Amino acid sequence: MAFKDLRDFISFLEKKEEILRIKEKVSYNLEIAEITDRVSKKGGPALFFENVENSDFPVVTNLFGSFKRMAWALGVEDIEEIPRRITKLLHQKPPEGLIDKIKMLPQLFEFARYFPKIVKTAPCQEVVEENPDVTKLPALFCWPKDGGRFITLPLVFTKDPETGIRNCGMYRMHIYDAKTTGMHWHLHKDGSHHYIKAEKLGKKLEVAVAIGGDPAVIYAATAPLPPNIDEMIFAGFLRKEPVELVKCKTVDLEVPANAEFILEGYVDPYERRIEGPFGDHTGFYSPKEEYPVFHITCITRRKDPIYPATLVGKPPMEDCYMAKATERIFLPLLKLDFPEIVDMNLPMEGVFHNCAIISIKKTYPGQAKKVINGLWGKGQMMFAKLIIVVDEDVDVQDLRYTAWRVLNNVDWKRDVLITEGPVDALDHSASFPRYGSKMGIDATRKSREEGMMRDWPEEIKMSDEIKRLVDEKFKNLELFKA
Ligand SMILES: Cc1cc2nc3c(=O)[nH]c(=O)nc-3n(C[C@H](O)[C@H](O)[C@H](O)COP(=O)(O)O)c2cc1C
Repeated sequence: MAFKDLRDFISFLEKKEEILRIKEKVSYNLEIAEITDRVSKKGGPALFFENVENSDFPVVTNLFGSFKRMAWALGVEDIEEIPRRITKLLHQKPPEGLIDKIKMLPQLFEFARYFPKIVKTAPCQEVVEENPDVTKLPALFCWPKDGGRFITLPLVFTKDPETGIRNCGMYRMHIYDAKTTGMHWHLHKDGSHHYIKAEKLGKKLEVAVAIGGDPAVIYAATAPLPPNIDEMIFAGFLRKEPVELVKCKTVDLEVPANAEFILEGYVDPYERRIEGPFGDHTGFYSPKEEYPVFHITCITRRKDPIYPATLVGKPPMEDCYMAKATERIFLPLLKLDFPEIVDMNLPMEGVFHNCAIISIKKTYPGQAKKVINGLWGKGQMMFAKLIIVVDEDVDVQDLRYTAWRVLNNVDWKRDVLITEGPVDALDHSASFPRYGSKMGIDATRKSREEGMMRDWPEEIKMSDEIKRLVDEKFKNLELFKA
């Protein structure tokens, strides 16, 4: 089931008793962050702050902060329903005869349904602010040493200045004053690619930022889609209904009609300003750095908007559940290039891409190393600082078992790859910004061709016969019950 907008999702969470309404007056300066941190660390509910000091608008946080809420946000009970749908779509056999072709028509037609629909009037334009002032938004001051208040859940829309293809990415925005913010798109991200192209053409880049909307649309902005794949089509696919878009008032961009707020404006070529510091996903502050500046020309909003925010910091936090959704949803797409991949785990402690554990069906020597090298060349997997590959019989979701297999199966000189290349802009451990080293570990069984000069030992397992015998003999023993 697709949610129409943010408030539809909030009503749903209310029915499920998964959102807590907080009536006490709270401040957007650190206080909401402290409450959100405590609740998200306990796996608690979403939080609706009704009474925010110095703000006309309520704030909602921790919307995606559990496996259950993350799945609901994307309209499913179990996130695995989405990769199953993707797998079905990707593995359709080409139609052979006329009957086959006719049978496929509904599926082809279904895909066309996911394209965004342009509407003429929109809730996000109920109010047009004559004199925009972004400081009136209850954006959070998240951590004590942050450089200011940040918009933490923005959907940043741009168009490729050469092709006109739309991009939507989530890039935090440091509020400087009434009409300017930072635009923290990292060098490697699609928003930045659009900006660099515009800069080379000596042109300003128009930008529109949506805040709020259907949770599937919000999630889509974070999804590591290849460039030139429209996040709004992807969101339509997730929600099984097209996203409604409306034309902006002052820029040539379309934005989700059901958002809560829209900031319209532009980013000038070659203009930079210090952004940050900011308490980041990694659990450390990302330092001050120069980033482009977003100039706001217009703010439109609903009559009674709700301001959604997220707090990032030491895991587990809300963003970890978004990352886990990405892990599941993108697995079938990785399998297209690497059919040997069985499963993948990006542990929360690795904060998105610091660690990827992959199981493979190995059929030839060197295959684990091929997968490691290949993944480093695939989109945002280039940021994976550690890739561990194990055999298909290892359940990578069982971290204890996986650690045992890896720690016992690796000859470090033979099985480790260390290379250099781009690393995530938030990686504070690299000697240089955005450039550093990464490691791959082949923890699969090795063959002679891979330099293993001895036979691989057998894993200890009790025989089924003895297990059954003991089960039967001690069936009343509490200690042996599962
Ligand atoms: C809460 C949250 C905040 C994020 N902030 C940033 C950010 O400030 N800068 C950035 O480059 N990526 C940020 N990301 C990651 C991007 O949204 C993600 O890499 C996305 O795929 C980028 O879209 P793009 O591929 O269209 O550029 C954030 C992700 C989340 C979940």
